[in-house]
Amino acid sequence: MVDVSELQTIEHDVLVIGAGGAGLRAAIESSGRGKNTGLVCKSLLGKAHTVMAEGGMAAALGFTDERDNWKVHFRDTMRGGKFLNQWRMAELHAKEAPERVRELEDWGAVFDRTKTGLIHQRNFGGHRYPRLAHTGDRTGLELIRTLQDAGVHRGINVHMECTVLDLLKDGDRVIGALGYWRETGRFVLFKAKSVVLASGGVGKAWRVTSNSWEYTGDGLAMAYLAGAELMDCEFTQFHPTGMVWPPSVRGTLVTEGVRGDGGILKNKEGKRFMFGYIPERFAPETADSEEEANRWLKGDKSARRPPELLTRDVVARAITREVKEGRGSEHGGVYLDIASRLPAEDIKRKLPSMYHQFKELAEVDITKEPMEVGPTLHYHMGGIKVDHDTQMTTVPGLFAAGECAAGLHGANRLGGNSLSDLIVFGKRAGEYASEYADNNDAGKVNDEQVQACIRRATGFLNRESGENPFVLQENLQAIMNEHVGIVRTGEELTQGLEKLAEWSKQIDTAKAHSTAQYNAGWHTALDLRNLHISSEAITRGALMREESRGAHTRVDFEGEREEWGKYNIFVWRGNDGEMKIEKRERPEPDKLLKEIGYSNIEDLESGKVGANAE
Ligand code: FUM
Repeated sequence: MVDVSELQTIEHDVLVIGAGGAGLRAAIESSGRGKNTGLVCKSLLGKAHTVMAEGGMAAALGFTDERDNWKVHFRDTMRGGKFLNQWRMAELHAKEAPERVRELEDWGAVFDRTKTGLIHQRNFGGHRYPRLAHTGDRTGLELIRTLQDAGVHRGINVHMECTVLDLLKDGDRVIGALGYWRETGRFVLFKAKSVVLASGGVGKAWRVTSNSWEYTGDGLAMAYLAGAELMDCEFTQFHPTGMVWPPSVRGTLVTEGVRGDGGILKNKEGKRFMFGYIPERFAPETADSEEEANRWLKGDKSARRPPELLTRDVVARAITREVKEGRGSEHGGVYLDIASRLPAEDIKRKLPSMYHQFKELAEVDITKEPMEVGPTLHYHMGGIKVDHDTQMTTVPGLFAAGECAAGLHGANRLGGNSLSDLIVFGKRAGEYASEYADNNDAGKVNDEQVQACIRRATGFLNRESGENPFVLQENLQAIMNEHVGIVRTGEELTQGLEKLAEWSKQIDTAKAHSTAQYNAGWHTALDLRNLHISSEAITRGALMREESRGAHTRVDFEGEREEWGKYNIFVWRGNDGEMKIEKRERPEPDKLLKEIGYSNIEDLESGKVGANAE
């Protein structure tokens, strides 16, 4: 049995797990407040899914269109989320995003500029006005670069290539975590007064995804096992445009910025098909002819937005339908054309990454030819339930921010709202985790919990034989692809749950060959539990929600159902160790916020609604 006192032990006031935008911003905040802060990255610092938010970060700065303000951003976010968002989080996000973006600029972020030198803002789906502050089509990268510089200079202790296995508890409270160094396989004990989870999503549960290998639902699973509640897990976002060809890069993101800058979607018959998919809710604000959409592109403010800029759920479903009905492209996607819309020089200047990505990976020159694109699993709107102001989970001492936390985006996230989410709520998580650390001592580590965790981990190495972890992960992806895709039915989901249960029995018999040193098979085996818990929560939520809302589409329950708009779905671990699920009525929103959220745009802009909101 391992002697816990002999393990490498690192002590911090605040431990942040995950080093994308939310984790970095939380760590900067807590370190700026004088806390000894540790930041753990599963991979290398700077390698985070944040960089896959390429097109920009949404903030109502009003630089490119002066009509923009927080109320319109708030309303857009609520409509995009089909009103299932936490109202207060959407309010805080819309109000605080501009300040967080300016702060980034103070820290050295370089944004594209307007002719008069202001931050240029780009159009994106579901945003009424051009709202995305951006650095070409590499905005996530610029965000990470800026935060990384700011963080390192503030004295954050960065622990790279370290995977956290479990959260540690003293009574009800989280007081640290056990991890291992990926290079050596040695275990490390982190003691902390408070812990922030910022570990991203669970894209690797699907075969076609924009996520890379790190995103295996670690934060969700660890929080769940520590007793935290998860919320609205059924809402998984398929970004409409991932690469579909060649197979080695299938799922790689094609930024929405292409459509924001005028790109259009066509089927194999050459038809601009999105005009046929405009939902009633968005019809008053969407162009219904090419002529009007073209006027909008040229800057005519009386014209309505092109249908390619409808919310992601709508566009992804439309593409899926075109393909299913035989109008797809050669490799099972549709065509995204920017070549006929912008001069080659503008394409290279505005979308340099896309130009190089297609040139190098697919041998396609996007200044001359259309891209082939199709939906790719990109983001999880559901996740760990947090307090809207403090980001504390339902477990004391445990905070969560960014993609692993639920609430802001409701049933569907608007593009660009992820980067602003990270900086708004990353800061808040850092702030309140620091406050918690001020008021609480380091707890006492329970040796038995640590020993059990190590025993489980080494079990994969120590058994004689067992399932191949890579094959198990592929099998899970096949289940999720087949049963929990863009469109779902109760029958498919029920079968999916059965298959997941059967599949999960093999996790504890998986065998990782060789030693613990840089052993990719072992790393994969250790991810499987987290993938399983997250996938089960997603599938159970999807089965329970008998309606279609945002990114959750049930063909056996078409359309939004009013009664379901009243509920969030919660998942937690019961005392018997089984996953529990229930729907709970949502609290009534603040009256003024409700008025703004449901207002029509003319009333909001004329001040008939929301005039008294600060
Ligand atoms: O399409 C994109 O650039 C992705 C942005 C986002 O997910 O926010």
